[in-house]
Amino acid sequence: MSDELTTILAGSPPGVLSLAGGFPNPATFPTAALDDIMLRLVRDDAGVALQYAPVAGIAGLQEYLADRLEQTQGARPEPGDLMVTSGGMECIALACQSLIDPGDAVAVEAPTYLGALMAFARYEADVHGIAMDADGLVVDALEERLAGGLRPKLLYVIPDYQNPTGRTLSLERRHALVELCRRFGVLIFEDVAYRELSFDGSSLPSLWSLGPDVVVQAGTFSKLFAPGVRLGWAAGPAEVIGELAAAKQTTDQCSGALGQRLVEEYGRAGHFERRLPAARELYASHWRAVRRAFDDHMPDGCSLTEPSGGFFTWLRLPDGLDAVELRPAAIDAGVAYVPGSAFYAGDGGRDEIRLAFSYLAEEDLGEAVRRLASVIA
Ligand SMILES: Cc1ncc(COP(=O)(O)O)c(C=O)c1O
Repeated sequence: MSDELTTILAGSPPGVLSLAGGFPNPATFPTAALDDIMLRLVRDDAGVALQYAPVAGIAGLQEYLADRLEQTQGARPEPGDLMVTSGGMECIALACQSLIDPGDAVAVEAPTYLGALMAFARYEADVHGIAMDADGLVVDALEERLAGGLRPKLLYVIPDYQNPTGRTLSLERRHALVELCRRFGVLIFEDVAYRELSFDGSSLPSLWSLGPDVVVQAGTFSKLFAPGVRLGWAAGPAEVIGELAAAKQTTDQCSGALGQRLVEEYGRAGHFERRLPAARELYASHWRAVRRAFDDHMPDGCSLTEPSGGFFTWLRLPDGLDAVELRPAAIDAGVAYVPGSAFYAGDGGRDEIRLAFSYLAEEDLGEAVRRLASVIA
């Protein structure tokens, strides 16, 4: 698993078009607005922006985050229910550190985010994959497992434009999931990394807004702003947030103050609302390019999920093909992808492939899909 992540972060060799990494498109980076904000912060606010910060985050950013959650999710965290983190991945690691002992059960969507699987493995959790279908996690399947005695310390779920499948949890299932986990006393860890990147600007209620008593939400500015700032948040029950904050004291102690002040100033100036529509349209247009190339070139027997936002689609290969075995031929043909098996805790995914359409230019996406199609054929 860790080899797969190292390969993704290292990028692909020259000449190879990569559908592997879920990197945000640099065209969405907030460069123009940041020039001015950065200059002002360094000139006028160095005492805060270049200093250590409170563990749970600078008060001004906390206030901005609470306002923003109220505006975008219709629920406002109470003081104590919110903390700033160094991105979504740190939040997963903090949850592992504070909530999971070796051998504890954790439930995840099958498949799910590679980084989360790696963190759960590192903390020696006993990971249980729960089936998904086109409407996301199959809540009835989870109910069956809970009724059968499974007692996970937490359920890790990515309800919107999931990494790796691009699928979205339906509204009905959101309500059912919160009700089920409340009934069985299971903490839901909701990862909303892609939530604001629907193609049409719409969104379903977050699990946290439906069940703030049983849900801790991990958010990140990596996909909306820039991963280079390593900034996110956790919102949830005060006792859980308290545990995460205690764990943070032994990792980085506080998230970088410069990034916190940048996001606060950028957000307060209204730049998220101003720039998000263009980012959504860019990713929507990238998805359409992949869909077109798929329709034009892919051989019979392949299928693709239909994301309504985010960075990913999930390809199923024709019977008998193996995504790991196919990869060297794909690299030779000049296209890289991540085999589906990387996203499962146990078996699974041999005939599946994650395709990220966020980063490559549209014409390169078309060419990458064409190359992949020729290898599959
Ligand atoms: C579902 C999901 N959660 C969390 C992360 C990590 O994000 P961050 O950069 O905020 O650590 C990613 C990044 O790819 C992701 O896809």
